[in-house]
Amino acid sequence: MAEIIDGNAVAQSVHAEIRGELSKLNFSRRPCVAFIRVGDDPASVSYVRKKERVAGELGMESRLHLLPESASQEELDSLIDSLNADDSVDAVLVQAPLPPQLDERKTFNRVRPDKDVDGFSNANLGLLCQENPRAFVACTPAGIVELLKRAGVETRGKSAVVVGRSLIVGKPMALLLMRKGMDATVTVCHSKSENLARICAGADILIAAVGRPQTITADMVKEGACVIDVGINRIPCAEKKSGYRLVGDVDFDSVEPKCSKITPVPGGVGPMTVAMLMRNTLNAYKYHMGL
Ligand code: GUN
Repeated sequence: MAEIIDGNAVAQSVHAEIRGELSKLNFSRRPCVAFIRVGDDPASVSYVRKKERVAGELGMESRLHLLPESASQEELDSLIDSLNADDSVDAVLVQAPLPPQLDERKTFNRVRPDKDVDGFSNANLGLLCQENPRAFVACTPAGIVELLKRAGVETRGKSAVVVGRSLIVGKPMALLLMRKGMDATVTVCHSKSENLARICAGADILIAAVGRPQTITADMVKEGACVIDVGINRIPCAEKKSGYRLVGDVDFDSVEPKCSKITPVPGGVGPMTVAMLMRNTLNAYKYHMGL
């Protein structure tokens, strides 16, 4: 039986740390995060709502800016520019994915690096590559590092396999696992990888960020491995009022008996992404306040 890593519990303890730090700061304004959502993608609506709710619970201000699905790059750029210039805003987050007429990389790079709490800009990715502690690190991989640490997972010298090479998860995850202090030996797999199952089966730590439901099956997992499931996939479910249920990229029922530790979906990585966003926002605020 694997230990189920409780992401909600770990996120709560990060929230408590942030609350504690905020309560010691007695300043003229609260930390403020601005969200930009383009269109009404149901998953994005739900993620942004969750981020706003947690910000409010922690005593931070949040502002939601909505643009229509048909928004142009110029409209989006000018909104980002106005938030970049607004001294009462510490953090600017453009929820991905964006509609096809918008260029995600161009958009992420438009956000001022000191407000880029997603860590997706060239500037912050460059700082991460250089292991610079001032980098804003992408929230999902940063949350996974926190989960591994607090669950007592040894990474030093271990074989870590990251399945997925996205800018949001796969690439920064690989950089974090290989950096000094984490010291894992990292392999990154993707849709063109040959022998995916064999490579995964060699992993002491397996990070599944594929974006396809239940892709990682028991034959792809080493006995005693730690498995981190980044996927949040909606699959149709007639019994649920919403009409769908959430499953990860890991086939939990077959994989769980084989591993030592595993994250569930929901309640694993998801809450940590939000907690790390709050921590990055607090750090942006401290920087802007000269603390
Ligand atoms: N879409 C999925 N995950 C994320 C994230 O961490 N940040 C942003 N901006 N969009 C996302």
